[in-house]
Amino acid sequence: MASLAFLIIQPIAFFFRILLKKFNRNPRYLRRKSSNVRSSQFKFQKYPSICHRSDLSNQTLIFNVEGALLKSSSLFPYFMLVAFEAGGLLRALALLMLYPLICLLSYEKGLKIMVMVCFFGIKKESFRVGTAVLPKFFLEDVGLEGFEVLRRCERKVGVTEMPQVMIESFLRDYLQVEYVVGRQLKVVCGYYVGLMEEKRKDRAILEGIVLGDPKMSSNIVGFSKFDKLDHQMFSQCKEIYLVSETDKRSWHQLQRDKYPKPLIFHDGRLAVRPTPLTTLALFMWVPFGVTISILRIVIALSLPFSVSIPILAFTGLRLVFTPSPKCRQSNSRLSPKPHKQKKGLLYVCNHRTLLDPLGLSFILKRPITAVTYSLSRMSEILAPIKTVRLTRDRDQDAKMMEKLLSQGDLVVCPEGTTCREPYLLRFSPLFAEMSDDIVPVAVDAHVDMFYGTTAAGFKCLDPIYFLMNPFPKYTVNLSLGKVCGSSTCRDGNESRFDVANHVQSLLGEALGFECTMLTRKDKYLILAGNEGIVSSDCNKRNH
Ligand SMILES: *[C@@H]1O[C@H](CO)[C@@H](O)[C@H](O)[C@H]1NC(C)=O
Ligand SMILES: *[C@@H]1O[C@H](CO)[C@@H](O)[C@H](O)[C@H]1NC(C)=O
Ligand SMILES: *[C@@H]1O[C@H](CO)[C@@H](O)[C@H](O)[C@H]1NC(C)=O
Repeated sequence: MASLAFLIIQPIAFFFRILLKKFNRNPRYLRRKSSNVRSSQFKFQKYPSICHRSDLSNQTLIFNVEGALLKSSSLFPYFMLVAFEAGGLLRALALLMLYPLICLLSYEKGLKIMVMVCFFGIKKESFRVGTAVLPKFFLEDVGLEGFEVLRRCERKVGVTEMPQVMIESFLRDYLQVEYVVGRQLKVVCGYYVGLMEEKRKDRAILEGIVLGDPKMSSNIVGFSKFDKLDHQMFSQCKEIYLVSETDKRSWHQLQRDKYPKPLIFHDGRLAVRPTPLTTLALFMWVPFGVTISILRIVIALSLPFSVSIPILAFTGLRLVFTPSPKCRQSNSRLSPKPHKQKKGLLYVCNHRTLLDPLGLSFILKRPITAVTYSLSRMSEILAPIKTVRLTRDRDQDAKMMEKLLSQGDLVVCPEGTTCREPYLLRFSPLFAEMSDDIVPVAVDAHVDMFYGTTAAGFKCLDPIYFLMNPFPKYTVNLSLGKVCGSSTCRDGNESRFDVANHVQSLLGEALGFECTMLTRKDKYLILAGNEGIVSSDCNKRNH
């Protein structure tokens, strides 16, 4: 009798188990439960209670990055960034086409497809997206509430389903997380083959970390999201706090001023977070963008300033200009009939994109010679104003600038390299000795889709990318007055360094940017892994 009942009930139970698996919202969680670690050894708590724990400062926190730190649970944008920045347009397009399939498959299978599309055939050594591009996008996705929990713990271990190379730099360098356990990628002959190592290995790494540090193994707290909980990863934890999707929806974004380490340099072309819909829009824009970009270049090159400016404005390029009464005077005095005995004005501007000197020329409606530290040959040929390359040899550069100043006005960007974020790099003090008529110019550029600068990519495409934006915007502030050079200021008592710093602080104040002492070398070490040696032609610069 009992066995008969068993025979009937068993298939029904089996059927319901399958049904439950199919329709449960967290199938991964259910599957995990049947793994060899029994869940009864954990003490689960809901997320908000971790905020009220007073002894967190003595604890080691193992947290799931995409579950308990990032606001959005979708990894697609990060993989799209890898595909686009490391692989190129075609790879990005392939990833976008596969998106519906990725949605249909299970989480792990979808992840495997994205890893395959993004990493297959990428050289391990030159993969810099994880350090140069992704930290910016991860930081913008950090939830303030999750970050606060992290901040209060003594030691942190980040656990993630993403490849380690994508997330390690963000967690270590920007959030000061000591240990990061991500998926390892298979490498053959120095190239990624697009496959991940088994998860078993990650778990072994995590155990090695925890057991290797006696301080760590005592008080371990877990922090994860309900459906992201890997029981084996968290098996060392005494208590696990679980955050739900509803909790996360009310989380705030971590504001820039709260970043533990400021984000100053980043690379990559995409200026927007490439969610599936944004990516689709980007791809639809690209043909128009390329056309309009070439059109804008042709207009700027072929027409006189007074004609090209209104036409360029009509195509969506905005130039915003703050003049100063003083400057207008000096322009009208100098531009039509330059004084023979007097030297030209020296415009000193901060560096946002390669087009800074051009923006100034457009606003003053006359070509001004630009001295630059880095310019690809392509831009040199295309530039409608005269450009002169500096050699970085002080005496030689000084002589050249002296000569150019005697011929007319000059614009120089003493930072020597561009910066995208609201920071000013160190001003090279050479310009301070050159002239006593120094005009600081505060420029800022705003893009809505693509960045017009790059550290590790093709420099010669910079103007094209910048002008590919639907509404690129340039602001030029000329109302900062004049600054005298080091030879006349306060009876020649002020050094050229003081003048350079003074100009930097003036520009910083006008733009609301923070002044730093970072240099071009710092930027290239972070973004390209080299010291920024300028190659003269249209080559990639990271060699
Ligand atoms: C933290 O740990 C130290 C030593 O392990 C102990 O003396 C101290 O009381 C602990 N503090 C808190 C707040 O638990
Ligand atoms: C000029 O520099 C000297 C020494 O560096 C200093 O003693 C003096 O006070 C300075 N004079 C002015 C006017 O700043
Ligand atoms: C231009 O710079 C001046 C001087 O720092 C500042 O007061 C003004 O607000 C700036 N204008 C714009 C539009 O940013």
